[in-house]
Amino acid sequence: MSSKTLPDVVVRTATPEDAAVCGQICYDAFCAISAAHGFPCDFPTPEAAIGLLTMMFSNPAFYCVVAEVDGRIAGSNCLDEDSAIYGVGPVTVQPGTQNRGVGRWLMEAAMDRARTRGASGVRLVQAAFHNRSFSLYTSLGFDVREPLCCLQGKTRARSVAGCEVRRAMPADEDACNALSRRVHGFERGSELSQGIAQGTACLVERGSRVTGYTSHLGFFGHSTAETNVDLQALIASAESFAGPGILVPSRNSVLLHWCLQNGLRVVQPMTLMSTGLYNEPAGAWLPSVLF
Ligand SMILES: CC(C)(COP(=O)(O)OP(=O)(O)OC[C@H]1O[C@@H](n2cnc3c(N)ncnc32)[C@H](O)[C@@H]1OP(=O)(O)O)[C@@H](O)C(=O)NCCC(=O)NCCS
Repeated sequence: MSSKTLPDVVVRTATPEDAAVCGQICYDAFCAISAAHGFPCDFPTPEAAIGLLTMMFSNPAFYCVVAEVDGRIAGSNCLDEDSAIYGVGPVTVQPGTQNRGVGRWLMEAAMDRARTRGASGVRLVQAAFHNRSFSLYTSLGFDVREPLCCLQGKTRARSVAGCEVRRAMPADEDACNALSRRVHGFERGSELSQGIAQGTACLVERGSRVTGYTSHLGFFGHSTAETNVDLQALIASAESFAGPGILVPSRNSVLLHWCLQNGLRVVQPMTLMSTGLYNEPAGAWLPSVLF
C-alpha cells in the first residue's frame, strides 16, 4: 500500500440509511473524474446516485460496504451476487480522500466476499480514461477483456427486416436464459425477471425462435443475442438508451460501424475487466455497466 495510506479505515456492511451520504459521494466522485477528463457525468443528479444506492443497499442480491475514516463515511462499494459471475461497482471514494488507500479497502472487502461465496468469477466495467481505477483493479488481479464504446442516440433505421422485437414476458424467461447459457455459459435470470417486471426487457424473434433479448437497453441492462443482426433489431427498436448509453464491445467492428452509420454518438470509452472464470462469448452481446 502507498505511504499515503490512511491507518484507520473501517469497512462495514452498508445499510439503506447510508445511501444518502454514499449517493452524494458517488455523484461527486464520478462527476469529478469525468469533468477532469472532459466527459459528461455518469449521473444526471445526486438524487439519481442516491436512488441507485438506496436500491442496491436494500437488495439482498447485493453485498454492499461503506468505508469510514475517523468515524465518517468516505466511500462505498457493491457486489452483485445474483449469478454465477459476480459484478463489482459502483466503487466510489470522496474526492478529497482519494488516492490514500480507501478504494483498495473497499475493493478487497468485495473480493474477499466473492472468494468466500465461491464465485466463479468477478467482473466490472471501468472508465477507460481513469488511470487510478485501472491500476487498482489490475493490481487486484483483474484482466482487460473488452474495450467498450458507450453510445447514445436513436438509430435512423427503426427496424431490421426479418426480425420481430417485442416486450419480453415471464413465459419467455426459459428461452432467454437458455440463450444466455449458450452465448456466455451462464444465465442472468434475476436481472431478466426484474427487467420483465419493470417493463424494460425486450426480445427479438426470427421465425418463432427467440434469437436475442435485453434486460434493459442502457447502462444498467445487458443484452445477449445469436448474431449482430438480432442486436441491431433490439437497438433499432429503442427510442433512447437508459443512463449514459449502451456499451458496445469496440472490437465488434460490424456492430460498431452499423451503430455509427445509424447516427449513434460516442459518449465515452470504457473497459470490461474480469478475474476468475472468463470465456469468449459465443454470440453477440452488450454488457451492463457491471458486466
Ligand atoms: C477509483 C476509486 C474508487 C479508487 O479509490 P482510491 O481510494 O482513490 O484508490 P486507492 O488509493 O485505494 O488505490 C489506488 C491505487 O492505484 C495506484 N495508482 C494511482 N494512480 C496510478 C497510476 N497512474 N499508475 C499506477 N498506479 C496508480 C495507487 O498507487 C494505489 O495503489 P497502491 O494501493 O498500491 O498504492 C476512486 O478514485 C474514485 O472514487 N474515483 C472516481 C469514481 C470511479 O471512477 N470509480 C470507479 C468506477 S469503475
